Amino acid sequence: MFQPDLLKGRSIFITGGGTGLGRSMALRFAELGANLFLTGRREEPLAKTCDEIRKKNARAAYACCDVRDFAAVEKTVAAAEKEFGRIDTLVNNAAGNFIARTEKLSPNAFAAVTGIVLQGTFHCTLVLGRKWIAARQPGNILNIAATYAAVGSGSGFVVPSACAKAGVLAMTRSLAVEWARHKIRLNAIAPGPFPTEGAWSRLLPTNDLEERARLAHPMKRFGRHEELANLAAYLLSDMSEYINGECVVIDGGLWLRGAGEFNDFVDFPDEAWEKLEGARKR
Ligand code: COA
Repeated sequence: MFQPDLLKGRSIFITGGGTGLGRSMALRFAELGANLFLTGRREEPLAKTCDEIRKKNARAAYACCDVRDFAAVEKTVAAAEKEFGRIDTLVNNAAGNFIARTEKLSPNAFAAVTGIVLQGTFHCTLVLGRKWIAARQPGNILNIAATYAAVGSGSGFVVPSACAKAGVLAMTRSLAVEWARHKIRLNAIAPGPFPTEGAWSRLLPTNDLEERARLAHPMKRFGRHEELANLAAYLLSDMSEYINGECVVIDGGLWLRGAGEFNDFVDFPDEAWEKLEGARKR
């Protein structure tokens, strides 16, 4: 469906680009001609994904960065610009999340998730947005929201993530208006369940839970990474230039079945919670 040069000449900065959906998006963007600069906290997956991208004959580089640290983000963006001359596209993909009863969370747990998702997204957006505006250069931003972030939605048991993703959505829509005059376009994707090691180990850590989630899905299946990566490529491409401030849901109709992706957990007895909290990755 896409021309192989759809993203040719683009230099894309993607947070959390070494693993999960960030990795899948990066690989797809590379196939479509883009240069990729990956960031994340751990070097090993970044280096590995860069190698995979280079095998597709695309350019890739990485630097370790915790998006919660504004100075580190500034430094990393400078390294990316040094690598590719300029960065014109940002994908705020890095996230943190885990399933938990909110009354069991520490303030630090809330801060860890909102720090990565909301502040991290703001940090990268601010650093690149300022540069684009000063250079009178157009820019493209894609944020990753969630189906439980929209007005009229929400979800129990992922409260820090729901709060942070709602903020990301508000940022997307607000800046889409404010920065349109600078030719900076912002959109978001709200993914439903897409299997990744990071999300599955923290949100559906047992086979029973995974099967329960699959059976509760209207299509009885989870998302495929290429489905999300293709949507992301479209939203970043010039084909979608008039789409601005939009959040596209890609969840096979799951949220329409009932608001709150994890609200079903209200039926869980305390013993089941204890088992789940033990199985879940920290
Ligand atoms: N349940 C409850 N609290 C948790 C938790 C969990 N599963 N995991 C971490 N926390 C708490 C910690 O106890 C700590 O609070 P405390 O200092 O009061 O004890 C706080 O969160 C920070 O934990 P820490 O491990 O130091 O944070 P981190 O900054 O290294 O990691 C997380 C950030 C917690 C978001 C971690 O899960 C992560 O790195 N996730 C990234 C990948 C991911 O979540 N992918 C899924 C995206 S959908």
